[in-house]
Amino acid sequence: MNKELHADELFKEFKETSITEFFRKNRAHLGYSGKLRSLTTAIHELVTNSLDACEEAGILPELFIEIKSLGQDHYLITSIDNGPGIPVRHIPNVFGKMLAGTKFHRNIQLRGQQGIGVAGVTLFSQITTGKPVKIRTSTGKGKVHEVELMVDITKNKAEIIRDNEYSEYWRGTEINCELRGVKFSLREQGPFEYIRRTAVANSHARIVFIDPEGRKTIFERSSEKIPKNPKAVKPHPQGMEVDDLLNMAKASKARKISSFLSSEFSRVSNAKVKEIQKRVDFDLNKNPRRITWAECEQIVDAIGEVKFLAPSSEGLVPIGEKQIKAAVLNILDPEFDAVLTRPPSVHSGGVPFQVEVAIAFGGHAGRETGNGVKFEIMRFGNRAPLIFDAGGCVITQAVNSVEWRRYGIRDYENAPFTVFINLVSTHIPYTSAGKQSISDEEEIMKEIRMALMEVGRKFSKYHSRKRKSEEREKKRQILLKYSTELAASLADLTKKDERKILEGLHELINERMLDSTEEVEEEEEEEVMDSFSDEGDRR
Ligand SMILES: Nc1ncnc2c1ncn2[C@@H]1O[C@H](COP(=O)(O)OP(=O)(O)OP(=O)(O)O)[C@@H](O)[C@H]1O
Ligand SMILES: [Mg+2]
Repeated sequence: MNKELHADELFKEFKETSITEFFRKNRAHLGYSGKLRSLTTAIHELVTNSLDACEEAGILPELFIEIKSLGQDHYLITSIDNGPGIPVRHIPNVFGKMLAGTKFHRNIQLRGQQGIGVAGVTLFSQITTGKPVKIRTSTGKGKVHEVELMVDITKNKAEIIRDNEYSEYWRGTEINCELRGVKFSLREQGPFEYIRRTAVANSHARIVFIDPEGRKTIFERSSEKIPKNPKAVKPHPQGMEVDDLLNMAKASKARKISSFLSSEFSRVSNAKVKEIQKRVDFDLNKNPRRITWAECEQIVDAIGEVKFLAPSSEGLVPIGEKQIKAAVLNILDPEFDAVLTRPPSVHSGGVPFQVEVAIAFGGHAGRETGNGVKFEIMRFGNRAPLIFDAGGCVITQAVNSVEWRRYGIRDYENAPFTVFINLVSTHIPYTSAGKQSISDEEEIMKEIRMALMEVGRKFSKYHSRKRKSEEREKKRQILLKYSTELAASLADLTKKDERKILEGLHELINERMLDSTEEVEEEEEEEVMDSFSDEGDRR
């Protein structure tokens, strides 16, 4: 029998570890698993950073991405943007430190939100090649910095290998890194498709992409409009959880809970604070840093009973129906399309979000497979394509929960059908640091379903109109065919001009067919309304 060990023995091994060390051992959490996925992940981190930086600085983005083959499963990635550049003193933390960045601590709608992404690229490059990452950046003031750095894994810190400064007027950021154990492919989950989808959701960006075969693809911008500058917003009280409230109160500089509530949340006026006061049994003049868990619970309950204005859409920057429609028409050239932006809503922790959807049917909609055209979902989070982990994503679940057949799309999984969904939020609740799948929050699920049902209804109208007009046309053709025989018999009986009789019959047939159109539309409108309310009732 084994000898029992004392806890002191076991705890000799108790050690703290750095976050970098954690991700070195668990790189799949960052999306570095599998050869293709790892390459797409690195491209995703670089592209989202460039677009975020340009958008916040109010610059129309120009991106250059090249993937060069250096041997079997070995590539050099170059990414250049015309963004604001990175001030030299921040370079080590940007590229060599995890959980460091300009976005994590702000309630702001950007693609990045964790302060891990690009340091993850440095780390992955280093652990697969042993080489440093090369960075060239300038903020446009005439000085360019070229830096080579590696990560000190045990300390979650950058190690600068080389730092060279020279004079040149240029602004932007260039990153060169080698990756091993990755593979380029034109497949759906590869870098090319990732960039193509980025271009679809970011028509204001010009992206040049060179693949390992040297093929150059230019995704020209179709809009010169820089999206509205994303603004940091205060959280909305609804959906606030007790722990969120407690943490915010403890960190607050306000002198009273009342002023903490009115100054650190959106839509909380003094009148609303009074309404909350009526529902709690302690004084809101108390210092917020002394608040207890039980008191926070009371405030959260009170918030649930008070009506607040919906969250401001100020911090949210949707793509917009016009631009989505243009992109959908441009790439899918569908027979039918419908686009919709829902009003803003809130999910857990009082975080505002908004859902945009488009559906396209026919034309080039759907995904070409060896097995014919299949249904396709294009998922986006703050305009960044979500390519992996589709199964666990609330978007996929919402799309699959809709009874498409009610809207006239039978066997939707095998139809030439594309659903495009972009979720914008100041904080997207991703299921992991790899940011490819959005967690199943009730409010998000509900909003996506509402949006899909609304566009589904539009399809249904179109579909039944089309079906009925096809039926009418079929009948018309049959009647026209028999009208020749009928005209001949009538001419025989009446001894009148056969040609004139035939003309009369044709006129009559066409008139009747036109007459029925309006009736049909009214009828189908009712049918669709019925199916819409049935589906709404299901949840
Ligand atoms: N191309 C760039 N131009 C300007 N600033 C950049 C660029 N790339 C990164 N940064 C800065 O570096 C910070 C860290 O980037 P990183 O990708 O690690 O984190 P993030 O984008 O904040 O969040 P996430 O981990 O979700 O990607 C960013 O917050 C941004 O301030
Ligand atoms: Mg990032």
